[in-house]
Amino acid sequence: MLLFFVVLLIVSIILLRKVNEHYFILALCKRIKCVDGKPLEEKVCIIPGKTIFGNNFDVLNVTPGKLFELTRGWAKFSRGRSYVLHFLSTSIYNIINAEDIEELFQSQTLTTKGIMYDFLQPFLGNGLLMSHEEKWHLRRRILTPAFHFNILQTFNEIFKEESLKLLEKLNYLQHDRINVNDFINEFSLNNVCETALGVKLTGIAGDIEYRAAIHNVEAIIVERACNPLMYYETIFYLFGQYKKSKHYVEITHNFSDKIINKKRREFLQNGNRCNIDKENSYAKTRYALLDTLLIHEAQGLIDHQGICEEVDTFMFEGYDTTSTCLKFALLNLAQYPDIQKRCYQEIENLTAFENLTVFDFNKLEYLGCVIKETLRMYPPVPFIGRQCIKETVLNGLILPRNAQVNIHIIDIMRDPKHFPEPSVFKPDRFLAENTRNMHPFAFVPFSAGSRNCIGQKFAMLEIKAALVAILRNYRVLPVTHTKDLSLEYGIILRTKQNIFIKLKPRVI
Ligand code: HEM
Repeated sequence: MLLFFVVLLIVSIILLRKVNEHYFILALCKRIKCVDGKPLEEKVCIIPGKTIFGNNFDVLNVTPGKLFELTRGWAKFSRGRSYVLHFLSTSIYNIINAEDIEELFQSQTLTTKGIMYDFLQPFLGNGLLMSHEEKWHLRRRILTPAFHFNILQTFNEIFKEESLKLLEKLNYLQHDRINVNDFINEFSLNNVCETALGVKLTGIAGDIEYRAAIHNVEAIIVERACNPLMYYETIFYLFGQYKKSKHYVEITHNFSDKIINKKRREFLQNGNRCNIDKENSYAKTRYALLDTLLIHEAQGLIDHQGICEEVDTFMFEGYDTTSTCLKFALLNLAQYPDIQKRCYQEIENLTAFENLTVFDFNKLEYLGCVIKETLRMYPPVPFIGRQCIKETVLNGLILPRNAQVNIHIIDIMRDPKHFPEPSVFKPDRFLAENTRNMHPFAFVPFSAGSRNCIGQKFAMLEIKAALVAILRNYRVLPVTHTKDLSLEYGIILRTKQNIFIKLKPRVI
């Protein structure tokens, strides 16, 4: 009998060892392997878990700030090599350098968004950010013309108008200590609504609640991401913040509904449906986003639900990202007076602000460098993710079905190999003469490849318009310093503390 148990034990151990070669049994996930059969650690760094259960308990109940520090710690531990984590039911390949991201950004197949995006689904539905395959192709084709250069020229007028309104607001605000949130958030939400959606927010109640709700939705998503058990819908429903999340999502949807309804009324009143005739095909005429969607609705190519998910997507992507970049740009300009002076010298002799064209803004090379350097150091979207819908070979690794690929944009852009002294703010790195030999994927704040940001030119123009308006009228002085801030993960990069600046009117 004893002999039987001993044999059974030995056989079980041998079997378990065999299974463990392919599965990390205690972490409940399938292992990533090397195509050439070499040990995985030769190609990537494997982050040891805090327990024998892989990395499952490493992130348990950490705060957004701690999660940010933890991931930077992993990047430091791996010394610039991409690394692997083992979580409940999935291995995660984390890419943190330009060399390793190249193949993924060029891939036409690894385009399905990662598991984390599922948490965004109740908020954004399957809009452009989240959809994949045929649905994504069709939507991207429909929406790309809505961001064409010709449309940007009309948006430019709105960006300038809103920048002038922003200046009026700044006149009323205390100049010795301004919280950048008090004027930037409203500015960028107004811009995306008036341009892409073609709706003025004046008369639509609820923008403040909308902005707060977005932050709350994000906070719940990050909290959920820190507890692998909450990845399961039922557990999240029973023990997580499901009800709160539903409440905040409803606030955001009610607000975007108001916008769609306002536009649809205008659209019908103007008889815009009748304007689409065969001679004057809409394919040749370019419309802003919401008009484009309503036209396609009239043609039966998209339904109301589809319009809602795109509007939610663009409001979220277009508002929070640009406002974050603007806040960090002002923080940097305040802290580096010499850099601010060079920006001012570039803009002081420009024609009247009202007359500035897209070409004028495009010519502002140094201001462009300041914005790029801000995006490099503080990318509003610090990380993005993909998942393998089937077994996939990437960078010589065999990623099992359902494996996740996290792309740490922030680490890629802080790689000292491509950006020496990465923590130092040096806009000159982006001057034309210094970028000639830059790795094509070293600077990727808008991602790259087929799923890159559709709104990047829109964002750069909007940010430039606001900065030109502010810098022409004010000297920006520091109150908050970078060292006072702790960065946190939201879906969008956050700071735990508010950013304050001082504004001193320029005497011209
Ligand atoms: C500084 C500002 C911005 C930054 C840093 C930024 C960054 C990004 C990044 C990194 C992605 C890829 C996301 C992923 O793969 O999961 C993305 C996608 C996207 N962005 Fe932006 N974005 C900005 C502004 C905007 C603006 C102004 C809009 C619209 C008005 C916009 C709309 C979108 C959309 C719709 C997508 C999804 C594209 C697709 O998958 O086809 N973004 N953005």
